[in-house]
Amino acid sequence: MSSVTEISPDRPVGELVVDNPNRSRVFEQFGIDYCCGGKQTLAAACAKAKVDLNSVLALLEENHHAPGDASEPDWATAPLSELARHIVERHHVYLRGELPRLAKLVFQVVSAHAEKHPELREVGRVYAGLQAELSTHMMKEERVLFPLVEMIEAAAAKGEGMPPCHCGSVENPIAVMEHEHRDAGEALARMRSLTNGYTPPADGCPTYHALLDGLKRLEADLHVHIHKENNILFPRAAALEKQLNG
Ligand SMILES: [Fe+2]
Ligand SMILES: [Fe+2]
Repeated sequence: MSSVTEISPDRPVGELVVDNPNRSRVFEQFGIDYCCGGKQTLAAACAKAKVDLNSVLALLEENHHAPGDASEPDWATAPLSELARHIVERHHVYLRGELPRLAKLVFQVVSAHAEKHPELREVGRVYAGLQAELSTHMMKEERVLFPLVEMIEAAAAKGEGMPPCHCGSVENPIAVMEHEHRDAGEALARMRSLTNGYTPPADGCPTYHALLDGLKRLEADLHVHIHKENNILFPRAAALEKQLNG
């Protein structure tokens, strides 16, 4: 990926990460939302996260020439079908394994520690909601939205018009998915705040530590996952549909 594009306070944070995925590390470090909030400018995102814009700019500049993730293609130009397949194989498969594992840990930790740490009950409620929503969310992407994106790309490759689609426009399922991403983002932020940034208490048992570590990794993976959908796959699919509609 290009790492030489300009970094300025008025560029959307999602776009900065599309240009160079390495920048997501800086944003994660400062708690800056670049996935659901990817359309915000860098200045607005820093203000929202209550962090100093100049400190973020300095770190982004430092990171400027660091190589991107060479293990992944440049998703800004790779075929959309390849990106959709990658999202399923990398992120959906991970979630399908990790969500039930963490659900068991949540149950164990709430049972053992909620008396002394009552906020765990709320963590359990938020987690259950997130797990249920993500499971149906991924199914909708795999059965409806991603096949439609692939059809649009295939039609464009053959020089055909927009294929018939029962959703009207690809923008309709995209809007639903973006709404669900916002819900997931809010659930993650709530769990982060309830657990004091995923910090185990002094009396936390190994399972407590394992749960918070697992939730922290889940959050980081979901941020990257949602970024690839909201800031790359969805806008590219919508643009291609517009092109087909002339
Ligand atoms: Fe997804
Ligand atoms: Fe999604």
